[in-house]
This record gives sequence, C-alpha cells and structure tokens, in this order.
Amino acid sequence: MKLIDARKDHYRKLANLEGYRSRSSYKLKELHKSYRIIGVGHYVLDLGCAPGGWTQVAVQLAGNKGKVMGVDTSFVEEIPGAYMLKSDICDDSVTKEVLSFFGKKVNVVICDLSPQVTGNWSVDHSTQISSNYAAAKIMDQVLKKNGNALFKVFDGEYSNEFYQYMKKKFFKIKLKKPKVSRKQSSELYCICLGYMS
Ligand SMILES: C[S@@+](CC[C@H](N)C(=O)[O-])C[C@H]1O[C@@H](n2cnc3c(N)ncnc32)[C@H](O)[C@@H]1O
Repeated sequence: MKLIDARKDHYRKLANLEGYRSRSSYKLKELHKSYRIIGVGHYVLDLGCAPGGWTQVAVQLAGNKGKVMGVDTSFVEEIPGAYMLKSDICDDSVTKEVLSFFGKKVNVVICDLSPQVTGNWSVDHSTQISSNYAAAKIMDQVLKKNGNALFKVFDGEYSNEFYQYMKKKFFKIKLKKPKVSRKQSSELYCICLGYMS
C-alpha cells in the first residue's frame, strides 16, 4: 500500500482517533464480535504482539479480573493492564515465563505473528506457517481445556496443512478474512474454539 493510501485508510484513522496502536485492533474486535473469543476475567496470551493493538483490545475484553501477557522480539511500549515479554517465541524459556506470569493455564492464546517479509512470497509464507507451529507448541503447554485461540495464517501452499493440524485440537474451527483486512493481503484468521486436550 502506498503511503498516501495508508493515510486515507479508514481503520488507520480510526485507530489514531480511538487510541489503538494498530489498525489490527479492529480485526480482533470484528472476529471477537462474531465468535466471542475472549471473555471477562480471562487470562490471555498474545504472541507476536508489537506494537500492541491486539493486546489493548485483550485488556479491555478481559477486564480488571483478567490478565494479559504479550510476547514479541520487538520492544513494546507499556500497556496498562498487560505484561510484556521481549523474546523470540522459538526460545524454549517462553513457556516457562508464561506459566510463571499467569500462575496457571490460560483461557485464550491469540497469535498475529508475521515474519520480516523478504518479498519472496513462498519464503514469507513458509516462515509464517513455521512460526505458527512454534506458537502452537507453546499453546499446547499453556492453554486450558475448552480454551480458545486465534491464529493469523498467510494463505498459501502450507496453510491447509496448518488448518488441519489445528482442527484436530479444537471442538470448532473456522477460517475467516475479516472485513478490516486489506483485500490485497493474503492473511486469513483461524478461529479455534474449545481446546480438547
Ligand atoms: C503484524 S505484527 C502484530 C500486530 C499486533 N497484533 C497488533 O495488533 O499490534 C507481527 C509481529 O510478530 C512479531 N514476530 C514475528 N516473529 C516472531 C517471533 N519468532 N517471536 C516473537 N515475535 C515475532 C513481529 O516482531 C511483529 O511485531
């Protein structure tokens, strides 16, 4: 998207007006409206959270009794009500840090991971999907039974394989492109409800 188009972008303007750090906040809001992914009092883990748009929405939805933790390799400015961990999700210590912060398993894992794009679509697609498998490995250790998850998926050669992998783990699963998502973007969101193990 050209800079001039980005300036005109409705959700970018709205995010500025409403104090959200990214237009992505509205993707989570839209998907949550249809699928009730995060409940009041929920413990929420946000993987690939910078600059923090989803984390802000998660804090609002979980409320005072909830707890939210974000993980990213990039620095994230403080978000009241959330704890930020600067780490690579492939680092073995992340799961331990997550369980230590929450003190128990979480209700929801949200994952909006995107690698540094190289411009080579098949490389970017396969890197994004392999990051998702790393995130799912964390999820398997920290998500409680009946919990929910939301994963971004770059649509391509390996996305169906990832979808089928997640499908075995949840009672209900859907693949959606929110209206907020730009038409030219290949991203889809995998909404996973009712973790079974
Ligand atoms: C699209 S952004 C997330 C936007 C965020 N959901 C929001 O609403 O502001 C994707 C993020 O994934 C992070 N990321 C990619 N690979 C990662 C990894 N292996 N470990 C941690 N973070 C990673 C990037 O640093 C980037 O900040």
